[in-house]
Amino acid sequence: MKERIKQLLADINALNVSNSEEIEALRIKYLSKKGEVSNLFNDFRNVAAEEKKEVGKLLNELKNKAQDKINQLKEAFEKSNDRAEKLDLTRTPDPVELGTRHPLSIVKNEIVDIFARIGFVIAEGPEIEDDWHVFSSLNFPPEHPARDMQDTFFITKDPDVLLRTHTSSVQTRVMTNQKPPIRVLCPGRVYRNEAISYRAHCFFHQVEGLYIDKNVSFADLKQALLYFAKEMFGEETQIRLRPSFFPFTEPSAEMDISCNLCGGKGCPFCKNTGWVEILGCGMVDPNVLENCGIDSSVYSGYAFGMGVERITNLKFQVKDLRMFSENDMRFLEQFRAAY
Ligand code: DAH
Repeated sequence: MKERIKQLLADINALNVSNSEEIEALRIKYLSKKGEVSNLFNDFRNVAAEEKKEVGKLLNELKNKAQDKINQLKEAFEKSNDRAEKLDLTRTPDPVELGTRHPLSIVKNEIVDIFARIGFVIAEGPEIEDDWHVFSSLNFPPEHPARDMQDTFFITKDPDVLLRTHTSSVQTRVMTNQKPPIRVLCPGRVYRNEAISYRAHCFFHQVEGLYIDKNVSFADLKQALLYFAKEMFGEETQIRLRPSFFPFTEPSAEMDISCNLCGGKGCPFCKNTGWVEILGCGMVDPNVLENCGIDSSVYSGYAFGMGVERITNLKFQVKDLRMFSENDMRFLEQFRAAY
Protein backbone atom coordinates (compact mmCIF):
# COMPACT_ATOMS: atom_id res chain seq x y z
CA MET A 1 0.00 0.00 0.00
CA LYS A 2 2.73 2.44 0.99
CA GLU A 3 4.57 1.56 -2.22
CA ARG A 4 1.50 2.35 -4.33
CA ILE A 5 1.00 5.67 -2.56
CA LYS A 6 4.63 6.61 -3.23
CA GLN A 7 4.34 5.62 -6.87
CA LEU A 8 1.14 7.67 -7.34
CA LEU A 9 2.72 10.69 -5.63
CA ALA A 10 5.64 10.57 -8.05
CA ASP A 11 3.25 10.21 -11.02
CA ILE A 12 1.18 13.16 -9.89
CA ASN A 13 4.23 15.37 -9.38
CA ALA A 14 5.37 14.70 -12.91
CA LEU A 15 1.99 15.47 -14.50
CA ASN A 16 1.80 17.91 -17.41
CA VAL A 17 -0.98 18.91 -19.81
CA SER A 18 -1.42 20.74 -23.09
CA ASN A 19 -5.16 21.45 -23.07
CA SER A 20 -8.17 21.68 -20.77
CA GLU A 21 -9.54 18.26 -21.80
CA GLU A 22 -6.38 16.64 -20.50
CA ILE A 23 -6.81 18.35 -17.14
CA GLU A 24 -10.35 16.98 -16.87
CA ALA A 25 -9.11 13.50 -17.83
CA LEU A 26 -6.54 13.69 -15.05
CA ARG A 27 -9.15 14.76 -12.53
CA ILE A 28 -11.27 11.76 -13.45
CA LYS A 29 -8.29 9.43 -13.41
CA TYR A 30 -7.16 10.41 -9.93
CA LEU A 31 -9.93 12.11 -8.02
CA SER A 32 -13.28 10.77 -9.27
CA LYS A 33 -15.23 8.19 -7.27
CA LYS A 34 -13.67 5.38 -9.24
CA GLY A 35 -10.32 7.15 -9.57
CA GLU A 36 -7.00 5.87 -8.32
CA VAL A 37 -7.02 7.82 -5.07
CA SER A 38 -10.56 6.69 -4.20
CA ASN A 39 -9.53 3.10 -4.93
CA LEU A 40 -6.75 3.42 -2.40
CA PHE A 41 -9.21 4.74 0.17
CA ASN A 42 -11.36 1.65 -0.54
CA ASP A 43 -8.39 -0.62 0.03
CA PHE A 44 -7.64 1.17 3.28
CA ARG A 45 -9.88 -1.16 5.24
CA ASN A 46 -7.47 -4.05 4.46
CA VAL A 47 -4.50 -2.25 5.99
CA ALA A 48 -3.20 -3.79 9.21
CA ALA A 49 -4.45 -1.98 12.31
CA GLU A 50 -1.00 -0.95 13.53
CA GLU A 51 -0.24 0.69 10.16
CA LYS A 52 -3.57 2.46 9.79
CA LYS A 53 -2.43 5.70 11.40
CA GLU A 54 0.67 6.10 9.23
CA VAL A 55 -0.99 4.95 5.96
CA GLY A 56 -4.06 7.09 6.63
CA LYS A 57 -1.88 10.15 6.95
CA LEU A 58 -0.02 9.32 3.72
CA LEU A 59 -3.33 8.77 1.91
CA ASN A 60 -4.69 12.15 2.96
CA GLU A 61 -1.47 13.80 1.88
CA LEU A 62 -1.74 12.08 -1.49
CA LYS A 63 -5.33 13.26 -1.96
CA ASN A 64 -4.43 16.85 -1.11
CA LYS A 65 -1.39 16.73 -3.35
CA ALA A 66 -3.46 15.45 -6.29
CA GLN A 67 -6.06 18.17 -5.74
CA ASP A 68 -3.40 20.89 -5.51
CA LYS A 69 -1.61 19.71 -8.61
CA ILE A 70 -4.76 19.69 -10.71
CA ASN A 71 -5.75 23.17 -9.48
CA GLN A 72 -2.27 24.37 -10.27
CA LEU A 73 -2.42 23.00 -13.80
CA LYS A 74 -5.82 24.60 -14.32
CA GLU A 75 -4.60 27.98 -13.18
CA ALA A 76 -1.48 27.90 -15.29
CA PHE A 77 -3.50 26.90 -18.31
CA GLU A 78 -6.05 29.68 -17.83
CA LYS A 79 -3.29 32.26 -17.50
CA SER A 80 -1.61 31.25 -20.73
CA ASN A 81 -5.01 31.25 -22.39
CA ASP A 82 -5.55 34.82 -21.22
CA ARG A 83 -2.33 35.93 -22.82
CA ALA A 84 -3.24 34.28 -26.08
CA GLU A 85 -6.46 36.27 -26.20
CA LYS A 86 -4.65 39.58 -25.66
CA LEU A 87 -2.09 38.85 -28.35
CA ASP A 88 -2.80 41.06 -31.40
CA LEU A 89 -1.44 39.12 -34.34
CA THR A 90 -2.24 41.95 -36.76
CA ARG A 91 0.27 44.29 -35.13
CA THR A 92 3.44 45.12 -37.04
CA PRO A 93 6.39 43.24 -35.54
CA ASP A 94 8.68 46.28 -35.19
CA PRO A 95 7.99 49.05 -32.69
CA VAL A 96 6.11 51.87 -34.44
CA GLU A 97 8.64 54.58 -35.28
CA LEU A 98 8.04 58.15 -34.15
CA GLY A 99 7.87 60.72 -36.94
CA THR A 100 10.06 63.80 -37.11
CA ARG A 101 9.11 67.42 -36.81
CA HIS A 102 9.14 69.33 -40.11
CA PRO A 103 12.27 71.48 -40.55
CA LEU A 104 10.12 74.60 -41.05
CA SER A 105 8.32 73.89 -37.77
CA ILE A 106 11.62 73.37 -35.98
CA VAL A 107 12.89 76.75 -37.17
CA LYS A 108 9.58 78.56 -36.62
CA ASN A 109 9.45 77.24 -33.05
CA GLU A 110 12.99 78.40 -32.47
CA ILE A 111 12.19 81.92 -33.76
CA VAL A 112 9.08 82.04 -31.54
CA ASP A 113 11.10 80.84 -28.50
CA ILE A 114 13.79 83.47 -29.02
CA PHE A 115 11.32 86.35 -29.18
CA ALA A 116 9.19 84.92 -26.37
CA ARG A 117 12.21 85.37 -24.10
CA ILE A 118 12.00 89.15 -24.63
CA GLY A 119 8.28 89.38 -24.11
CA PHE A 120 6.69 88.73 -27.52
CA VAL A 121 3.46 86.75 -27.55
CA ILE A 122 1.92 84.92 -30.50
CA ALA A 123 -0.89 86.45 -32.55
CA GLU A 124 -2.58 84.78 -35.49
CA GLY A 125 -4.86 85.84 -38.30
CA PRO A 126 -6.75 84.22 -41.19
CA GLU A 127 -5.07 83.09 -44.42
CA ILE A 128 -8.10 84.17 -46.44
CA GLU A 129 -8.11 87.93 -46.07
CA ASP A 130 -9.54 91.13 -47.50
CA ASP A 131 -7.90 94.06 -49.25
CA TRP A 132 -7.99 96.29 -46.17
CA HIS A 133 -5.92 94.01 -43.91
CA VAL A 134 -3.39 92.94 -46.55
CA PHE A 135 -2.95 96.19 -48.47
CA SER A 136 -4.99 99.33 -47.79
CA SER A 137 -4.48 99.60 -44.03
CA LEU A 138 -0.76 99.02 -44.59
CA ASN A 139 -0.42 102.10 -46.76
CA PHE A 140 -0.25 100.34 -50.15
CA PRO A 141 -1.38 102.87 -52.76
CA PRO A 142 -4.24 101.66 -55.00
CA GLU A 143 -2.00 101.10 -58.00
CA HIS A 144 0.73 99.23 -56.10
CA PRO A 145 1.98 96.22 -58.16
CA ALA A 146 1.63 93.82 -55.16
CA ARG A 147 -2.14 94.12 -55.59
CA ASP A 148 -1.78 92.81 -59.11
CA MET A 149 -3.24 89.44 -60.17
CA GLN A 150 0.34 88.50 -61.00
CA ASP A 151 1.26 88.40 -57.32
CA THR A 152 -1.93 87.88 -55.40
CA PHE A 153 -4.33 84.95 -55.47
CA PHE A 154 -7.88 86.26 -55.61
CA ILE A 155 -10.08 83.30 -54.81
CA THR A 156 -13.53 84.52 -55.83
CA LYS A 157 -14.82 87.02 -58.39
CA ASP A 158 -14.95 89.50 -55.53
CA PRO A 159 -11.56 91.30 -55.51
CA ASP A 160 -11.96 91.71 -51.75
CA VAL A 161 -11.42 87.99 -51.05
CA LEU A 162 -7.79 86.98 -51.39
CA LEU A 163 -5.04 84.84 -49.90
CA ARG A 164 -2.73 86.94 -47.77
CA THR A 165 0.60 87.65 -49.44
CA HIS A 166 2.33 88.45 -46.16
CA THR A 167 1.73 88.12 -42.43
CA SER A 168 1.79 91.92 -42.07
CA SER A 169 -2.02 91.64 -42.30
CA VAL A 170 -1.98 90.29 -38.74
CA GLN A 171 -0.43 93.60 -37.60
CA THR A 172 -3.59 95.42 -38.64
CA ARG A 173 -5.82 92.88 -36.90
CA VAL A 174 -3.86 93.15 -33.64
CA MET A 175 -3.57 96.95 -33.67
CA THR A 176 -7.27 97.30 -34.36
CA ASN A 177 -8.26 94.97 -31.53
CA GLN A 178 -5.68 95.71 -28.83
CA LYS A 179 -4.42 98.79 -27.09
CA PRO A 180 -0.67 99.52 -26.80
CA PRO A 181 1.67 98.37 -25.44
CA ILE A 182 1.61 95.66 -28.09
CA ARG A 183 4.37 93.12 -28.51
CA VAL A 184 3.38 90.28 -30.85
CA LEU A 185 4.93 87.69 -33.11
CA CYS A 186 2.80 86.42 -35.98
CA PRO A 187 3.91 83.19 -37.62
CA GLY A 188 1.92 81.88 -40.56
CA ARG A 189 1.57 80.72 -44.13
CA VAL A 190 1.39 83.18 -47.01
CA TYR A 191 0.62 82.82 -50.72
CA ARG A 192 1.95 84.44 -53.88
CA ASN A 193 1.30 83.66 -57.49
CA GLU A 194 4.87 82.69 -58.37
CA ALA A 195 6.17 80.13 -60.87
CA ILE A 196 7.41 77.22 -58.74
CA SER A 197 11.15 76.67 -58.93
CA TYR A 198 14.01 75.76 -56.61
CA ARG A 199 13.95 79.32 -55.24
CA ALA A 200 10.24 80.29 -55.28
CA HIS A 201 6.98 78.62 -54.33
CA CYS A 202 3.36 79.69 -54.44
CA PHE A 203 3.13 79.31 -50.67
CA PHE A 204 5.70 79.86 -47.96
CA HIS A 205 5.94 80.93 -44.32
CA GLN A 206 6.71 84.17 -42.55
CA VAL A 207 7.12 85.41 -39.02
CA GLU A 208 6.08 88.98 -38.42
CA GLY A 209 7.06 91.00 -35.37
CA LEU A 210 5.38 94.13 -34.06
CA TYR A 211 6.14 96.31 -31.05
CA ILE A 212 4.06 99.42 -30.27
CA ASP A 213 4.51 101.58 -27.20
CA LYS A 214 5.46 105.09 -26.15
CA ASN A 215 9.00 106.10 -27.17
CA VAL A 216 9.88 103.04 -29.25
CA SER A 217 12.89 103.95 -31.36
CA PHE A 218 14.95 102.54 -34.21
CA ALA A 219 17.65 101.73 -31.64
CA ASP A 220 15.17 99.38 -29.91
CA LEU A 221 14.53 97.65 -33.22
CA LYS A 222 18.22 97.24 -33.93
CA GLN A 223 18.92 95.84 -30.47
CA ALA A 224 16.07 93.31 -30.67
CA LEU A 225 17.24 92.13 -34.09
CA LEU A 226 20.88 91.85 -33.01
CA TYR A 227 19.75 89.75 -30.05
CA PHE A 228 17.72 87.53 -32.42
CA ALA A 229 20.60 87.09 -34.88
CA LYS A 230 23.01 86.04 -32.13
CA GLU A 231 20.53 83.63 -30.55
CA MET A 232 19.63 82.09 -33.90
CA PHE A 233 23.01 81.93 -35.64
CA GLY A 234 25.58 82.16 -32.84
CA GLU A 235 27.19 84.73 -30.56
CA GLU A 236 29.78 85.80 -33.18
CA THR A 237 27.06 86.81 -35.70
CA GLN A 238 27.05 90.44 -36.86
CA ILE A 239 24.20 92.37 -38.45
CA ARG A 240 23.98 95.29 -40.85
CA LEU A 241 20.94 97.32 -41.85
CA ARG A 242 20.57 98.65 -45.39
CA PRO A 243 18.01 101.38 -46.21
CA SER A 244 15.03 99.96 -48.07
CA PHE A 245 11.39 100.65 -48.78
CA PHE A 246 8.11 99.12 -47.55
CA PRO A 247 4.81 101.02 -47.73
CA PHE A 248 4.01 100.25 -44.07
CA THR A 249 7.31 101.33 -42.47
CA GLU A 250 9.21 104.60 -42.47
CA PRO A 251 12.16 104.47 -42.35
CA SER A 252 12.55 100.92 -43.69
CA ALA A 253 15.54 98.63 -43.79
CA GLU A 254 16.66 95.21 -44.82
CA MET A 255 18.84 93.30 -42.45
CA ASP A 256 21.82 91.15 -43.40
CA ILE A 257 23.75 88.86 -41.09
CA SER A 258 27.41 87.99 -41.49
CA CYS A 259 27.43 84.82 -43.62
CA ASN A 260 27.05 81.92 -41.22
CA LEU A 261 28.86 79.55 -43.60
CA CYS A 262 32.13 81.41 -44.08
CA GLY A 263 31.90 83.66 -41.02
CA GLY A 264 31.94 86.77 -43.22
CA LYS A 265 35.12 86.01 -45.18
CA GLY A 266 33.24 85.50 -48.45
CA CYS A 267 32.11 82.24 -50.10
CA PRO A 268 29.88 81.12 -53.00
CA PHE A 269 26.86 81.05 -50.66
CA CYS A 270 27.09 84.77 -49.84
CA LYS A 271 28.37 85.54 -53.37
CA ASN A 272 31.65 86.58 -51.78
CA THR A 273 30.08 89.53 -49.99
CA GLY A 274 30.32 88.03 -46.50
CA TRP A 275 26.68 89.02 -45.85
CA VAL A 276 23.29 87.33 -46.38
CA GLU A 277 19.91 89.04 -46.23
CA ILE A 278 17.43 87.65 -43.71
CA LEU A 279 14.58 90.10 -43.11
CA GLY A 280 12.80 93.40 -43.73
CA CYS A 281 12.02 95.87 -40.97
CA GLY A 282 11.36 99.47 -40.05
CA MET A 283 9.44 101.93 -37.90
CA VAL A 284 5.69 101.52 -38.31
CA ASP A 285 4.45 104.29 -40.63
CA PRO A 286 2.25 106.79 -38.70
CA ASN A 287 -0.43 106.32 -41.39
CA VAL A 288 -0.65 102.65 -40.47
CA LEU A 289 -1.03 103.46 -36.77
CA GLU A 290 -3.80 105.95 -37.55
CA ASN A 291 -5.53 103.45 -39.90
CA CYS A 292 -5.76 101.09 -36.95
CA GLY A 293 -6.98 103.70 -34.47
CA ILE A 294 -3.69 104.25 -32.62
CA ASP A 295 -2.66 107.86 -31.95
CA SER A 296 0.65 108.32 -33.78
CA SER A 297 1.47 111.44 -31.78
CA VAL A 298 1.57 109.34 -28.61
CA TYR A 299 2.76 105.94 -29.82
CA SER A 300 5.45 104.67 -32.12
CA GLY A 301 6.58 101.19 -32.97
CA TYR A 302 8.77 98.91 -35.01
CA ALA A 303 7.94 95.94 -37.21
CA PHE A 304 9.90 93.24 -38.95
CA GLY A 305 9.10 90.30 -41.19
CA MET A 306 11.16 87.27 -42.12
CA GLY A 307 10.75 84.18 -44.29
CA VAL A 308 10.91 80.92 -42.37
CA GLU A 309 12.18 79.07 -45.49
CA ARG A 310 14.98 81.60 -45.81
CA ILE A 311 16.12 81.16 -42.20
CA THR A 312 15.82 77.38 -42.53
CA ASN A 313 17.98 77.43 -45.66
CA LEU A 314 20.61 79.42 -43.83
CA LYS A 315 20.58 77.02 -40.88
CA PHE A 316 20.44 73.76 -42.81
CA GLN A 317 21.58 74.67 -46.36
CA VAL A 318 18.52 73.28 -48.11
CA LYS A 319 19.25 74.02 -51.77
CA ASP A 320 15.79 73.49 -53.24
CA LEU A 321 12.73 75.10 -51.67
CA ARG A 322 10.41 72.49 -53.17
CA MET A 323 11.81 69.87 -50.80
CA PHE A 324 9.87 71.48 -47.96
CA SER A 325 6.56 70.45 -49.48
CA GLU A 326 7.35 67.16 -51.20
CA ASN A 327 7.04 65.01 -48.08
CA ASP A 328 10.02 62.91 -49.03
CA MET A 329 10.88 60.87 -45.93
CA ARG A 330 14.57 60.74 -46.90
CA PHE A 331 14.67 64.53 -46.63
CA LEU A 332 12.44 64.92 -43.57
CA GLU A 333 14.19 62.25 -41.49
CA GLN A 334 17.47 64.14 -41.67
CA PHE A 335 16.09 66.61 -39.13
CA ARG A 336 15.54 64.01 -36.42
CA ALA A 337 18.40 65.33 -34.31
CA ALA A 338 17.63 69.02 -34.85
CA TYR A 339 15.19 69.57 -32.01
N1 DAH B 1 5.73 92.05 -45.43
C1 DAH B 1 7.06 92.07 -46.00
C2 DAH B 1 7.15 91.04 -47.10
O1 DAH B 1 6.31 90.22 -47.20
C3 DAH B 1 8.07 91.75 -44.94
C4 DAH B 1 8.20 92.87 -43.96
C5 DAH B 1 9.09 93.90 -44.19
C6 DAH B 1 7.44 92.90 -42.84
C7 DAH B 1 9.24 94.91 -43.31
C8 DAH B 1 7.57 93.94 -41.94
C9 DAH B 1 8.48 94.95 -42.19
O2 DAH B 1 6.87 94.01 -40.83
O3 DAH B 1 8.62 95.95 -41.31
O4 DAH B 1 8.08 91.08 -47.86
